[in-house]
Amino acid sequence: MKTIIFGGSFDPPHIEHIELCKEAIRTYKPDRLVIVPTCYPPYKSKGYLSFEHRVELSKIAFGSLCKEVIVDTIEKDMQGENYTANYLPILKEKYGDIMYIIGGDSLERFRTWYKPEEIVKICPLIVVPRNHYQDVNTLIEKYKKEIGGEYFVLDYFGDHCSSTIIRAKLLLNLDPGEDITEDVLNYIKKNNLFDDYDSVLEQLHSYQTEDLFNHSLHVALMAVTLNTRGDLRLDFTKVFLSGLLHDNAKQRKSLDGLDIPEDAVGSPVLHQFLGAEKAKRDFGIEDEDILNGIRYHTSAKANMNIFEKLIYTADSVSEDRTYEPIPKIREIALKDFNLGFLTVLKHTYYSIIERGLPMYKLTQEAYDYYKEQMEDIPLI
Ligand SMILES: [Fe+2]
Ligand SMILES: [Fe+2]
Repeated sequence: MKTIIFGGSFDPPHIEHIELCKEAIRTYKPDRLVIVPTCYPPYKSKGYLSFEHRVELSKIAFGSLCKEVIVDTIEKDMQGENYTANYLPILKEKYGDIMYIIGGDSLERFRTWYKPEEIVKICPLIVVPRNHYQDVNTLIEKYKKEIGGEYFVLDYFGDHCSSTIIRAKLLLNLDPGEDITEDVLNYIKKNNLFDDYDSVLEQLHSYQTEDLFNHSLHVALMAVTLNTRGDLRLDFTKVFLSGLLHDNAKQRKSLDGLDIPEDAVGSPVLHQFLGAEKAKRDFGIEDEDILNGIRYHTSAKANMNIFEKLIYTADSVSEDRTYEPIPKIREIALKDFNLGFLTVLKHTYYSIIERGLPMYKLTQEAYDYYKEQMEDIPLI
């Protein structure tokens, strides 16, 4: 009896998870599909679904794909020792003739997994290329020489869906579109899942007009999207909150005795400094990354860290900005994050000059700092 094993966080399971399973089932004709939801470390809680809900959602999403479908809770049962190399032998014992699905991204990092040389001894791997451009065959040849193993490449290209981005949409009460099935969405709604930030959204909304609130939601979503697409690996919650709260002070500019640089008062950059201080005071944010993302989102500055660059870029290319040349710059940023950041900076700097607006000193410093890197980048 042949079994395909598919592991993942499934937070939530999306249409590509389902499609690639269907393709694997068509190709390898197993009798059984075993879904193995990942068990998160305890620090992951806000904004993430519980193991129990992910098990239920997996049953709903994958339940009808194969003659027999089992959602196996082995990761939770193993309590902290849940490495693939540890649980795969147990699954082999349980299910016999198994194949294990691995994504192209994971294959790239496979050597950093716990005991990959043990994993390839246990069963063949079904590799799912990330997209048309990913050359998994070279990687496979390399691994065959280094650690051995049997690999099959599935004729399916992923790339489009991301649970992280879907999660951000659901947390922001935005439409997840067709990336998840209706049944999955119904379960989410019925159980009031992804409502972790509803009170933050409500509070923010009370400070903002509809347009600005809509912009805030889209900056949060874009920050999460750029973080995912650019593989920046910044903390989801921090990115989400910094994007969401970046303009929290835009329509409430009273200084309230807060500590603001004197030269910012009366300038368009005031709301970034005020925003950081009011995020601290009114939303209880203490994390310096989140606060600095807010603090420099309009002016930029010299020598920005990746988090600051992310919020700055997300604010400029969020989907609610439909006017030229933003869609073009957005496309660049989604393909190449750093190029996107530099393109935004160059565009912003020259449009301040073109419009005869005063240049804030941090923006000038940012331009001077990144000037060399921007030299070959066309002004859009
Ligand atoms: Fe702003
Ligand atoms: Fe903004």
